[in-house]
Amino acid sequence: MEGKKRDNWTSSIGFIFAAAGSAVGLGNIWRFPYLAGANGGGAFILIYLIFVVFIGLSVMIAEFTIGRRSQLSAVGAYKKVNRRFTFAGVIGVLSAFLIMGFYPVVGGWSIAYIIKSFTGLLANEGAIAESFGNFITSPVQPLLWMVVFMFLNLYIVAKGVSSGIEKAGKILMPTLFVLLVLIGIRSVTLPGASEGLKFLFYPDFSKVTGETFLNALGQQFFSLSLGMGCMITYGSYISKQERLPKNAVIITALDTLVALLAGIAIFPALFAFGLQPDQGPGLVFIVVPQIFSEMGAIGPILSAIFFIALTIAALTSSISLLEVVVAYLIDERKFNRTKAVISTGLVMTIMSVLASLSLGAFPNLKVFGVAVFDFFDILTDKIFLAIGGLLIAIFVGWFMNKEDLKDELTNGGSIEFGLFNIWYNLVKYVVPVAIAIVAVLGIIAIEQTSLMIFGLLVILLLAIFSKKL
Ligand code: PHE
Repeated sequence: MEGKKRDNWTSSIGFIFAAAGSAVGLGNIWRFPYLAGANGGGAFILIYLIFVVFIGLSVMIAEFTIGRRSQLSAVGAYKKVNRRFTFAGVIGVLSAFLIMGFYPVVGGWSIAYIIKSFTGLLANEGAIAESFGNFITSPVQPLLWMVVFMFLNLYIVAKGVSSGIEKAGKILMPTLFVLLVLIGIRSVTLPGASEGLKFLFYPDFSKVTGETFLNALGQQFFSLSLGMGCMITYGSYISKQERLPKNAVIITALDTLVALLAGIAIFPALFAFGLQPDQGPGLVFIVVPQIFSEMGAIGPILSAIFFIALTIAALTSSISLLEVVVAYLIDERKFNRTKAVISTGLVMTIMSVLASLSLGAFPNLKVFGVAVFDFFDILTDKIFLAIGGLLIAIFVGWFMNKEDLKDELTNGGSIEFGLFNIWYNLVKYVVPVAIAIVAVLGIIAIEQTSLMIFGLLVILLLAIFSKKL
């Protein structure tokens, strides 16, 4: 993704794979199920789906449009249209940077579980949950795996060779999909599984609070790789012949399907095994091995394939995050690629070490009363991505020329985009107002008020000093 030469994807399917590779990742398979579990199941999922259709999809179309119109990545695109918006791009870069302070920790867990599938993890079904707890709280092991995951990222981005990983993704993403379907079938046919389906699809609104809405909003931005300019950059590489709305619909649908499949794979089994849905971040690492452990000799092999596929899905997402930061340093700060990769990689590794240790080995590693891991997670997902999405909608709705938008979305008038006016009004009015309401409700309901205020202050400061950015 070098800033200067703007290659286009050679084929439409190549672009869809790259963007879907960014979207489908730990967010769908690790984060979505545990959030749904902690937020009461069905009601959370319903709110999530409504947000995806009315907010996420509109913002994705908006990001693609900004990117393809400007032929620039986020910061440059904002700067060109209105310098006052530069800070929105910078918030995006900051988000990518902070997500890379905890994402590699979970990526490392996934790699570790490839090996663990063969080394006795599945042998004792009753000990799987405990084994996960011991693993992530131990001081050294998770760090080593995190470093392996980080190294893979740095290597791929430094060489600028994402084509290799994209090729691997072309085989492994469908594999992941098939495996999820298989696990899902196994899961729903376990005795006692219907409880789990009810939990997933029967909305119990008594569990809904302002925080549920904020969680759902943040999660859909996170899962769709929105609100931080990642899809602006991707948009800048889409060829002028492609239909932007159609591509956005395909990517959004794929991403959502994978998240729902992960839910169907996990919850029926979880209830069948008599576990609690609000397990937190360990959910997929506890339930999935437990399903495989009941499959006899083939269990470890399937489990290993599952975690290999999950690792690749995580990598195709994290390289897009790393690339956002690296591209910014190259384009705007005149770093060369190697220097940009090494320096960001170093800082991200230190952040991930702290995040990993904060989960158990050093429980005192806290900021604003939450573990460092959660600090990076909450700050990005509940504040920066939400405000980032808001700013993208405002930018497109109020600062870009409506005719230009229409021209871009209809490929210069050569194709129809019948829903243009609906989309335009959504991004201009509905999305900003909805995000603002959810943010206010969330801040009132959430426990970590000081952290939220800190995040908003950071944004305010960036906005005030945006001329210097
Ligand atoms: N969408 C990715 C996932 O679900 C994470 C991500 C967020 C990637 C933001 C890029 C930008 O795992």
